[in-house]
Amino acid sequence: MSYEKLRQRILQLKDQKRAIILAHNYQRREIQEIADFTGDSLGLCRRAAETDAQYMVFCGVDFMAETASILNPDKRVLIPDTRATCPLANMLTARIIKDAKRKHKEGAVVLYVNTTAESKAEADIICTSSNAVEVVNALEQDVILFGPDWNLAQYVKNRTRKRIIPIPSYGYCPVHQYFTVNQIRELREIYPREELEVMVHPECSPIVQSSADFVGSTGKMLERPASLGKRIFIVGTEVGLIYPLYKRHKDKSFIPLCHDALCKPMKLHTLRKVYMALKKERPIVKVPKKIAAEARDSIEAMLKQKTAKKDTSFTIHDRTPFNTLS
Ligand code: 13P
Ligand code: SF4
Repeated sequence: MSYEKLRQRILQLKDQKRAIILAHNYQRREIQEIADFTGDSLGLCRRAAETDAQYMVFCGVDFMAETASILNPDKRVLIPDTRATCPLANMLTARIIKDAKRKHKEGAVVLYVNTTAESKAEADIICTSSNAVEVVNALEQDVILFGPDWNLAQYVKNRTRKRIIPIPSYGYCPVHQYFTVNQIRELREIYPREELEVMVHPECSPIVQSSADFVGSTGKMLERPASLGKRIFIVGTEVGLIYPLYKRHKDKSFIPLCHDALCKPMKLHTLRKVYMALKKERPIVKVPKKIAAEARDSIEAMLKQKTAKKDTSFTIHDRTPFNTLS
């Protein structure tokens, strides 16, 4: 089937089945173009909580699709490729959390949304990289068990008076971990200083974060260029973000901090797999009821927090096929 035909079939099936497609900012361009909503994990969480669609095709990694399913127990959440799993999320187990809770009884458990449903069931509240600092600061407790990303934990630690205890002692994202200060230095030498802004994700190491001009979630990076007079942006996150940045800010230039920064699990979803998922109505994401109920409490605790209200997800309204982009 030709690319254009595949797109048309997906759009038809979507209408027929009252389905929506949610896509993370790192998805392939052709998937972002066909999605109803594209965004960071917080934006997608909020969209999943609000939709009245019967089916949701979730193009992201498994913890994101699980979150959508937990928030919508009566709806069908489809994931085009079930192998799309986040290694960072898998670094934290319910056992590690239980042990940490026993050791620090006074602490609150704040978990990054990049966690399995079993881990979320052990949390007091969930956060994303968009709202982690606000979520932590709004809690009564002064001791926070925070996981699984050690770098995000350090980012929060530098912006709060509370004691942050990372669980596990060293969790990391294999994509963001390998950005270096030298990469930033080399690019700063090439471009004029007054026109350049270096943006990195809080999953990067603290030294990379402190060498950047701006640290934020993918949603915040997407908004940043509009508020600055600068013209050239170095993007320290997964390379997929370059496309929505370009779509939103066509008058600016975006350069990946590293061209190899690729989250392979995110890229497992293809248009063909989206089509098959819609057609066959599977694979369906399933979370055991008891775990889902406990995990829902911690996700809803985040969604209820006033500080988490802002939604940075958006739709790429012009569906120009990716291969015709100039
Ligand atoms: P965002 O919340 O910024 O979209 O990040 C999710 C993620 O997995 C980053 O690697
Ligand atoms: Fe997980 Fe890293 Fe991929 Fe984000 S970029 S989904 S944290 S592996």
